[in-house]
Amino acid sequence: MSSFKDLRIVDNFYQTSSFFPMPTILVSTIDDHGNTSLGAYSLCFPYYVAGKSYYAMILECRNSSNTAQNILKRGKAALNFLPHHKTYFKETVRLGYPGDSSLDKMSKTSLHLEEGLAGIDDQSKRPKVVTEAFQVFECTWVSELEHADECQAGQLEGYDPPFKDFNGITSKFGAHFILKIDKIIMKEKYHQAIIDGVKAKSFPKIPVDYGYRDNTHFWYTPSTKYFSEPIPTKKAMDISTVRFAADRTDPNITFTDDACERLVKVPRIFLKAALESCAKWARENDVTEITSKEMDIINDKRNKEKKS
Ligand SMILES: Cc1cc2nc3c(=O)[nH]c(=O)nc-3n(C[C@H](O)[C@H](O)[C@H](O)COP(=O)(O)O)c2cc1C
Repeated sequence: MSSFKDLRIVDNFYQTSSFFPMPTILVSTIDDHGNTSLGAYSLCFPYYVAGKSYYAMILECRNSSNTAQNILKRGKAALNFLPHHKTYFKETVRLGYPGDSSLDKMSKTSLHLEEGLAGIDDQSKRPKVVTEAFQVFECTWVSELEHADECQAGQLEGYDPPFKDFNGITSKFGAHFILKIDKIIMKEKYHQAIIDGVKAKSFPKIPVDYGYRDNTHFWYTPSTKYFSEPIPTKKAMDISTVRFAADRTDPNITFTDDACERLVKVPRIFLKAALESCAKWARENDVTEITSKEMDIINDKRNKEKKS
């Protein structure tokens, strides 16, 4: 007999039929008067994380919301992550009340707005970002994906088919937006923590939306304790496994044993990519033998790239 009970799957199953941990994000967009509007969103997750020419998030929202309509019209959004603070969460819930106009909501907000950094690079008009946020993703809607630029703003009573599968208007009342991340900006304290290596005390306190809600309350946790779990190291490879792969990387480049030794802890599925990137560096620098010394230079270069 199963230790589980079956639960009926209904609309908004992540709120009605489950406990589901999610971020709470204030999405800034530009309204019809050129002002910044804020809406509360939890259904916002990384979408393209590697292997493409850009990185992207996906945002799922009601297509009649101010946020969806503004993205359809102007294509720019900023995802503001606020730290846990009871007054910030109260304000997030107020900004999450459906049907209020941007003007009405924003005239009463206790939060502060300032210019972000992405507009300086590309001279584009961007929504402002929330000063109280600890980090912000400044984004552009990838409207060319799935020809989503065919989707028009303005139908606030519900859209008619045909619908898009994953970008643009996706159902009568729903919209999905693939948002290219133009910039991640962060407050100095957390920026420094990422550069120096994060310790438990350097984590921002992030409100986690618990998914489940009833008709009267949103539930969230302030996450105030942080635990770490070491990544297993016992699976380090035998040097001969690295040697086998290293000898098949580039016929013009050799890896010495001490260079191979440096790669034994790289998980096996990433080994080929790691060797390839070393070989790429060697080709660019006219190096034919990679020793431990070259591995130091490659690692330094990687660390510098990370810092910049
Ligand atoms: C914590 C929280 C999370 C929310 N997450 C979502 C979401 O992911 N998608 C959505 O469509 N609405 C979500 N809502 C409801 C929207 O905030 C609501 O539709 C609001 O009207 C959107 O504001 P806007 O019209 O200014 O965009 C959420 C509300 C709260 C308080």
